[in-house]
Amino acid sequence: MKHEKDWYKELVIYQIYPRSFKDGNGDGIGDLKGMIEKLDYLKELGVNAVWMSPVYASPNVDNGYDISDYFSIMEEFGTMQDWEIFRDGAHARGIAIIMDLVLNHTSDRHIWFEESKKSKDNPYSDFYVWRDPAPDGGAPNGWMSVFGGSAWEYVPQRKQYYLHMFAKEQPDLNWDCEEAREKIFDIIRFWNEKGVDGYRVDAISYLDKGLDGRADFQETIGTVACANLEGTHRYIREMAEKTFAPAHLMSVGEVNINNEQDSINYSSAKSGEFNMAIPFVPPIVEIKTWSPERLKEDLERDYQILKEDGWWARFLSNHDKPRQVSLYGNDELYWKESAKMLACYLHTLPGTPFVYQGEELGMTNVQYHSIEEYDDIDTKNYYMSMLSDGASEEDALAESQSISRDNSRTPMQWDDSAYAGFSTQKPWLGVNPNYVKINAANQMQDDTSVFRFYQKLIALRKEHPVMVHGDFALCCPKKGPVIAYTRSFQNETWLVIHNFSEKEQIFEHDRIQGTETIILSNYDERAKERGKIRLRAYETMILELQDKNKR
Ligand code: NOJ
Ligand code: CA
Repeated sequence: MKHEKDWYKELVIYQIYPRSFKDGNGDGIGDLKGMIEKLDYLKELGVNAVWMSPVYASPNVDNGYDISDYFSIMEEFGTMQDWEIFRDGAHARGIAIIMDLVLNHTSDRHIWFEESKKSKDNPYSDFYVWRDPAPDGGAPNGWMSVFGGSAWEYVPQRKQYYLHMFAKEQPDLNWDCEEAREKIFDIIRFWNEKGVDGYRVDAISYLDKGLDGRADFQETIGTVACANLEGTHRYIREMAEKTFAPAHLMSVGEVNINNEQDSINYSSAKSGEFNMAIPFVPPIVEIKTWSPERLKEDLERDYQILKEDGWWARFLSNHDKPRQVSLYGNDELYWKESAKMLACYLHTLPGTPFVYQGEELGMTNVQYHSIEEYDDIDTKNYYMSMLSDGASEEDALAESQSISRDNSRTPMQWDDSAYAGFSTQKPWLGVNPNYVKINAANQMQDDTSVFRFYQKLIALRKEHPVMVHGDFALCCPKKGPVIAYTRSFQNETWLVIHNFSEKEQIFEHDRIQGTETIILSNYDERAKERGKIRLRAYETMILELQDKNKR
């Protein structure tokens, strides 16, 4: 596919977590064959891009985010030929392919690392971040890894420590080494040649470790200590220029955003880095701090910062977060209403929407009964650290359950047959028992389903440029659970209103006539009144406002 400069603005990107999407060969693990089988489903949903979480060879310590060979496909997922069939099938249906690039670290089983750890004078010696022990023989500084424990691991052969921001099986690459950078860019060039349309770039805020002349012996998380340094931006610009930017391949960085400048650096066109950014917020922080008020503040701020020269990646879910309907909605009494409200919110904001597999069915968090049922390395480490801090098993399990990344990694719920139609074998991770009620087969036969609602929103985006290019202005009180805004483009103005609560709310707006067209809503009927709207539990609606001058 050839791409125009701003084509990424018109995408609706569907994220596939391949391990959990569809098993095509009956071994309990999702794979490319399964993805090929479901291309028509994606076409029917209407998305025009797919981002697949990593499918490269990997020992799977962190489910593919630890890559041992960037030029081949993980055996469990199939072959390069399968990948090509998927690519061609997607392209034939007008669906762009976005690959996940994990370039902050490799697997410890990557040949570069296996060589690098052997000695201080081998061709790959400098490809990773090695440091001598501290004077007392301990780690070079007090940095902790994101998944818990020290971020340094000692290798007796080299008599040195290497840095790993994530698991110890994920050694960080040394971007200060020019030769390593060129080899990394070769990976991207290889996938460019294979016809990829864009990239989601993993954990990319930590390329410059800023270690020289600095010894932090206090314990601090490494990714916090070195986020967003100048060298990191320099390396990202170099990568963009040399690889994805010239052909206008779409790019989104998974980044750490602490202030306005960070947003500008990563997501404005003039910075020459990415088209847009996915800010990483740890689930435990999100669960404790989110509120409709916070969402409003963030929306306003992010819009102002980037409206001239930047763009926004919009997402409520991904493979690192709990399910959106469980987190921001109500996954019991108002399951359907709140799943639809969140969908409408996602698709009507300025920016490119990202739909995470299963959210179009309203899939929910899962409740396992013991820690053994979990797979996620982060959940397991978190559980163990709670136990060693003195928590009871019951409390540790309850807290791990609410933050676990496995909530979003349970197998896709295709139908109500055994294992939710995901596989004919027991899947690698337990299916959510609610598949009997929540599944694709059901929803495709029901015009009022969450799936059909997503389909409508995606179709609307293709028909109405106001959803893509419209100006955005909040028009609701700062306080309270109602989030409302207008989107305007040329003569068209849409008013979008959401009630982020189960309590009835009154929303007032002087341009409401009571006679305007309702473009979409999650309730059937509405009392017609002038100047105000009574919102029911998790009610959402898009109204087309009449032209100001024609009133
Ligand atoms: C972010 C990815 O989304 C996550 O799944 C992974 O564990 C870390 N980066 C490390 O690659
Ligand atoms: Ca399989």
